[in-house]
Amino acid sequence: MLSPEPSTIAPLRRRLGGIAFGGDYNPEQWPEEVWAQDVHLMKEAGVNLVTVGVFSWANVQPRPDVFRFEWFDRVLDLLAANGISADVATMTASPPPWLARAHPEILPVRADGVVLSPGGRQHFNPSSPIYREHAAALVTAVANRYADHPALAMWHIGNEYGCHVAASYDDTSAAAFREWLRARYGDTDALNDAWCTAFWSQRYETFEEILPPRAAPTHPNPAQQLDFARFSDHAMLECYQAELAVLRQITPDIPVTTNFLYLHKPVNVQKWGPHLDLAAVDCYPDPADPRAHLTAGLTYDIMRSARGGQPWFLMEQAPAAVNWRTINRPKAAGQMRLWSWQAVAHGADGVLCFQWRQSRGGAEKFHSGMVPHFGEQGRTFADVRQLGAELAQVPGLAGTRIQHRAALVLDWENWWALELDSHPSAAVEQLGSLLHHYAPLTDAGIGVDVVHPDADLSQYRLLVVPNLYLLRPETAAHLDAWVRAGGHLVVSFFSGIVDDCDRVHLGGYLGPLAETLGVVVEEFAPLETDGSDASRVDIAFLDGHQGTGSIWSEQVHLRGATEVARFASGELAGRPAVTRHTRGAGTAWYLATRPDEVTMRRLIDSALAGAQVEPVLPGVPEGVQATVREGGGERLLILLNHNAEPRTVALPVPMRVEVGSQRGAVAEAVSLAPLDVAVLRQIGE
Ligand code: GAL
Repeated sequence: MLSPEPSTIAPLRRRLGGIAFGGDYNPEQWPEEVWAQDVHLMKEAGVNLVTVGVFSWANVQPRPDVFRFEWFDRVLDLLAANGISADVATMTASPPPWLARAHPEILPVRADGVVLSPGGRQHFNPSSPIYREHAAALVTAVANRYADHPALAMWHIGNEYGCHVAASYDDTSAAAFREWLRARYGDTDALNDAWCTAFWSQRYETFEEILPPRAAPTHPNPAQQLDFARFSDHAMLECYQAELAVLRQITPDIPVTTNFLYLHKPVNVQKWGPHLDLAAVDCYPDPADPRAHLTAGLTYDIMRSARGGQPWFLMEQAPAAVNWRTINRPKAAGQMRLWSWQAVAHGADGVLCFQWRQSRGGAEKFHSGMVPHFGEQGRTFADVRQLGAELAQVPGLAGTRIQHRAALVLDWENWWALELDSHPSAAVEQLGSLLHHYAPLTDAGIGVDVVHPDADLSQYRLLVVPNLYLLRPETAAHLDAWVRAGGHLVVSFFSGIVDDCDRVHLGGYLGPLAETLGVVVEEFAPLETDGSDASRVDIAFLDGHQGTGSIWSEQVHLRGATEVARFASGELAGRPAVTRHTRGAGTAWYLATRPDEVTMRRLIDSALAGAQVEPVLPGVPEGVQATVREGGGERLLILLNHNAEPRTVALPVPMRVEVGSQRGAVAEAVSLAPLDVAVLRQIGE
């Protein structure tokens, strides 16, 4: 089922005339003479949307009582005159020096008590009422001034919430945390019970005694840490919502977004999603990482799924190199084009870069720009121009959707809980585990959504659940009902361990999911990670396949499931390692270790076959990604060659090539150069 998009989105799509293309534009860094050249080059590159004003606070409000909007007026006028739309930022991401000087209490404080000073950016405590007040006043001024400006196409609240400062441990935040806890638990008895404070003499008599989990002699209470993660996310969401309320009142018809930082643990994208008109993400995969497209793909699937499959924007990506890794490799020739189309293949309706013109000074002067230091003659701007032209080349693409029958399960709160300290193994972490389950699906040509386990699961035939440590009994019941109705579930170890408050489900691990899986776990035996023999365990499949497991092993008891593989070395030799359980009309698999890649792929292939989930285009060569976007009578196939060698893809029916070297032809097979892209349109039945 496709979720309906907000009423603000179709007008935006019409206005842009297709896929959004552009970048962050920071004209305040340049003399005005450069602006005219900027818009000239933007038009040459096919730019139809730029994000303006993200870091303009100090420039539009140089003193508490002085607003200087004239220069910004001229920027927007220039854009409007040239037919370029503006994604106008609320400018609240980096408070001006005068605000921190007048109110040092807006500055965030780390868990160890260090106050973070101005001089970088994002130096605000999300719970500070003074920051929020000044931000609201600024947003009101900006929204009133530009409500009717012809360039205004959408609003961009803040910038990458939580990127540098995701929590503050100061006294103001402590008071807000206590209020949040009061609302959640009502009284200290309930909180003491939820936090298991009988342990280590932590019992609270009054809420006033409670603090954020500041630097402590040893592990702070895990439930307190988990609640503080929830609270800190909530505080940032409140900042966003306060600005949203202002914008909704002044410009109810203008769509609103904020740009999430990719795969960023502190911000619960699943919770924020419903508060946006359009999801947007900044994604910076490392060109030096040969599997970087997997990280990017996972990011994009999370974004699309955060708003029920609606199109979203890649709000920032680097045209070439970034400046914040230890070694910053530029994207290889063709990589920006390939990765941009990858976003579109995962449902993006916008591809934008950070930033338009590479800065001359400041901390990001070595971060690439669409117009680099070298000027518009070099390869970067040539790539930008080509991409802009190609994105505009496929009528009907924007607004189309993707439908998947398989999904990966992610509960953001589980991410926080799974990675708490004092666990059996610090090697069990959320992203690594998501990628380990995502890779074999991608390699098998299967696209996935990334869903919360409480979501409507009816469209899926296969659900893959990596390490769902935090599991509410209601969630387990929801998953069980889905399996009994015919779903195929694959669950990895260290799942079903604790409840919402990090309290263990007693009577055997897997707790409320044990019956579904037909197994129960008695004891964990995590493996080493040092490459020694103790880092691996052999696993023998009953069909003869021999594999290895890493990270984890454990003592599993069968309670109705059948053994598919057993441990074949170490103390657990002879005990179940992989099991399968028939439950109602469905099947539930359990993995008691992390199988090696080949074994994982075999397992996923078996689960896919059982669930009858097939790739959109069978027989595509390894490393070539195929996706279909559909809607409005269009069916578009996007092919991406992530390999460093050419590949040929046979098509089941002749299709018209819209993007690619065979452009204009009706093709039965497509030749893809290394890192190449093709977009094909289905022509009739
Ligand atoms: C993002 C940020 C941009 C810019 C970019 C550089 O995190 O939103 O303002 O700093 O990174 O990669």
